[in-house]
Amino acid sequence: MKILMICAEYAPLAKAGGLGDMVAALAGVLAARGHEVKVVLPLYGDIDRERHALAPCAGLPPFAVRRGGAVRRCRFWRAPAAGGPDVLLLENDDQFGRPGIYGYADVDEFADTLPRLALLAQGALEAAVLLDWAPDVVHVHDAAAALATVDLACWSRAGTPLAATRTLLTIHNLAHQSLHPRWEFTALDLPARLAWHPGEMEFHGGLNLMKAGILMSDLVNTVSPTYAREVIADEETGCGLAGVLRDRGADFSGILNGMDREAWDPATDRCLPATYSAGSPAGKTVCRTALLRELGLQDGGPVLASVGRLARQKGIDLLLPLVDGLVSEGWRLAVLGTGEPALEQALHAAAAAHPGRVAFAARFDEALSHRFYAGADAFVMPSRFEPCGLAQLYALRYGTPPVVRRTGGLADTVTDAAGPGDVGFVFDEATPAALGAALARAIEAWREPGRWSSLVRRGMAADFGWDAPAAAYEDLYRSLEGT
Ligand code: ADP
Ligand code: GLC
Repeated sequence: MKILMICAEYAPLAKAGGLGDMVAALAGVLAARGHEVKVVLPLYGDIDRERHALAPCAGLPPFAVRRGGAVRRCRFWRAPAAGGPDVLLLENDDQFGRPGIYGYADVDEFADTLPRLALLAQGALEAAVLLDWAPDVVHVHDAAAALATVDLACWSRAGTPLAATRTLLTIHNLAHQSLHPRWEFTALDLPARLAWHPGEMEFHGGLNLMKAGILMSDLVNTVSPTYAREVIADEETGCGLAGVLRDRGADFSGILNGMDREAWDPATDRCLPATYSAGSPAGKTVCRTALLRELGLQDGGPVLASVGRLARQKGIDLLLPLVDGLVSEGWRLAVLGTGEPALEQALHAAAAAHPGRVAFAARFDEALSHRFYAGADAFVMPSRFEPCGLAQLYALRYGTPPVVRRTGGLADTVTDAAGPGDVGFVFDEATPAALGAALARAIEAWREPGRWSSLVRRGMAADFGWDAPAAAYEDLYRSLEGT
């Protein structure tokens, strides 16, 4: 099949979280299974063109996108394909030339987000027309790319390569819906009915790109079966769109993400000071010692790691009141993350209060994240909600049992040490007490080396590869044929 993916993140070119990992892995596995896959993302100002060997697209001339009274000169750059998907980066200095994916430091959204996303959607569809390439499916990822399905639903496309194209929206996180004031609607050149109640894009008097994508895509899915159930059953997790999703009925489903088992393999990982595997685990001890030294932590207890965005979603605030107690029980705590300033301050304060016991690296650092997964003993992810979560899968693969809350994709991937085939520790209530009880069970298990190493081995052997999810996406694409 011919598949055009549109997204704001694509690892390793542009990544703020798991979206970038997921799209790159899915596009790669679909290409390997014989599909023709093209991916369009913006050429952000901080993408290193030289390092990634990007080059202006031969055969695709510069073009102009006209929308909302603006004329924007664009051209495409291309990443080396090496048998994988054809990755096209949309260049427009005015909209994408600055650093950042969503906003400065990816905390405050850029004020001109709507025209940026309109350009991404239109530019990506323009690529298919310019290349005279007729995608069977336009597969858009999250609210940032959802406008493309709206454009396809509203524009006349007879006689273009997009005439018979069908659309799929994958929701990676319903909490990020791309909301805008209604007066910005003129930037879109779309029929006015969309923006006025009960129009598809209207949401409490403003504009909502996720809602429009949900209503105007041929099919919609999200990244785990449990999150798919939660967002329609629970208004809070549904973030105001539970009813809208419910109304799509069988058109809305959940497909659990896989993980890229080549990019995330402790046996070959070049970011690690030593490699290891379940059968030959000695390298993990080297990684642990190196991580302790790198972070200035003293040995003497299990190392509990967290890698993730410092946002309410991730529940790191549930851990903060426990820090003193955890340290006195013997835990070492290592946190890698950036995000809400109040959480960053609290983590800096915890590190200052417990030198040698608590370390906080307040930056986005891909290589260091690999060293965290490898060097830690246990991983903590107390998310309030989690559409899928990839971090816990990486922790499992790196022999670092995860302690997680039973929600979304965490519930679908981590089985508890109290049950058979267990790989980690699961708790239910989003409270420090419930998290603390799970951590108490974890340290107890860690003190029994035989029990711990079989837990580690089971986690490392768990198969969260991409074969099953890729086949599930193929089924979705095929179900669109002839509709
Ligand atoms: P989400 O997409 O909600 O952020 P996931 O668990 O799906 O959560 O994916 C998070 C991804 O981002 C993982 O690859 C994780 O290692 C990475 N990540 C998060 N924060 C950082 C950071 N500060 N430095 C490096 N990698 C990070
Ligand atoms: C989102 C979700 C995360 C998921 C990722 C990739 O960022 O928050 O749970 O793993 O997308 O689908």
